[in-house]
Amino acid sequence: MTKRIVILGSTGSIGTQTLDVARWRGYQVVGLVAGGNLELLLEQVREFQPEVVYAAAALDPSQLPAGVQLVGSAAEVAAHRADAVVAAIPGLAGLEPVRAAVRAGRLVALANKESMVAAGDLLWREAREHGASFVPVDSEHSAIFQCLVGEPREGVAELILTASGGPFREGPADLSRVTPEQALAHPRWNMGPKVSIDSATLMNKGLEVLEARALFHVPLERIKVVIHPQSYVHSLVRFRDGQLKAQLGPTDMRLAIQYALSYPKRPPTPLASEPLPSVLNFEEPDSERFPALSLAYWAGRMGGVAPVVLNAANEVAVSAFLSGRIPFTSITRVVAKLLAEAPRLELTWDNLYQADAWARRRAGELV
Ligand SMILES: NC(=O)c1ccc[n+]([C@@H]2O[C@H](COP(=O)([O-])OP(=O)(O)OC[C@H]3O[C@@H](n4cnc5c(N)ncnc54)[C@H](OP(=O)(O)O)[C@@H]3O)[C@@H](O)[C@H]2O)c1
Repeated sequence: MTKRIVILGSTGSIGTQTLDVARWRGYQVVGLVAGGNLELLLEQVREFQPEVVYAAAALDPSQLPAGVQLVGSAAEVAAHRADAVVAAIPGLAGLEPVRAAVRAGRLVALANKESMVAAGDLLWREAREHGASFVPVDSEHSAIFQCLVGEPREGVAELILTASGGPFREGPADLSRVTPEQALAHPRWNMGPKVSIDSATLMNKGLEVLEARALFHVPLERIKVVIHPQSYVHSLVRFRDGQLKAQLGPTDMRLAIQYALSYPKRPPTPLASEPLPSVLNFEEPDSERFPALSLAYWAGRMGGVAPVVLNAANEVAVSAFLSGRIPFTSITRVVAKLLAEAPRLELTWDNLYQADAWARRRAGELV
């Protein structure tokens, strides 16, 4: 039977690459969600003829082909009957649709790391109640997921996430003057603007550490980060006996997306015979130059709603940097200040939304 998939964020980097995978595999795309790029959304609708569609921007239903229904929210599309939901709306805006997919008992192919960072335990509780499951799409978490297949959890000593180091690994020395254009030019991956800036500050890796803790239930002190500029080793697991397993492959997100959607099968792809790289290096991250990583560990140790505050402050600060309102180095300054002021609340759905609103308001004042 053809697999029925829903894509949340279909016009973005992960969304369009998911549609490539759907073309490779002949998946039936039954639901699409986009933000404001209506032209591309309508093109996708014409090609894939989904059953339901939603856009954050106003979409005139008369522009849709017969049989395609415009619904009232992303959450409605997320809960539509499907075998898998690809969650690729960035930021906390992606949380409600992820939650709707979980409550509908779906397999969630999770790219939206921010929802797992902010609401991990709460989402798992609802997933257990409703029979939903998560398969990671983020390449590092996909790698760890693949390394853990068939391994008893008590044998795991540590998770080692690789990071390319971003566009500023080797310079310039003064990061306060870098422009959004420079920060968006990631050396290895072609991604959306939010995750590209997060990669330049290394906040992306910090969020991924918190995502890995929530996804794999491994304590923070057993999750490490190593800089690996070639981005060919996507991550590693070290076992108690000292042996390591790594997952390697071309830097192409379509492989991780297809793995999440076809797990445990490995159908062939057009990338199946890429040549091996000649050099693989690993080095320690520079935590003075890139304080974001330490901030994420700090938020993780604080627990409760601190990761929610970290995420919200970062979203506001990244957007302020992209619109030229603050320098690059102020992104982590805003996050650090907010974490120092963060309310100490346990993680509940109410506290999550309260802390998120507080952090966005306070970060807005600071920027
Ligand atoms: N790109 C990667 O290689 C990569 C790798 C690992 C993880 N991720 C994670 O995957 C997620 C998506 O990243 P991306 O790079 O694909 O982002 P992106 O290129 O910026 O795309 C975002 C998508 O979400 C839609 N969107 C944004 N806000 C929305 C809203 N409020 N309601 C409905 N739709 C909305 C956008 O629609 P419009 O464009 O129509 O406005 C677009 O389709 C992020 O959480 C990121 O951290 C990405």
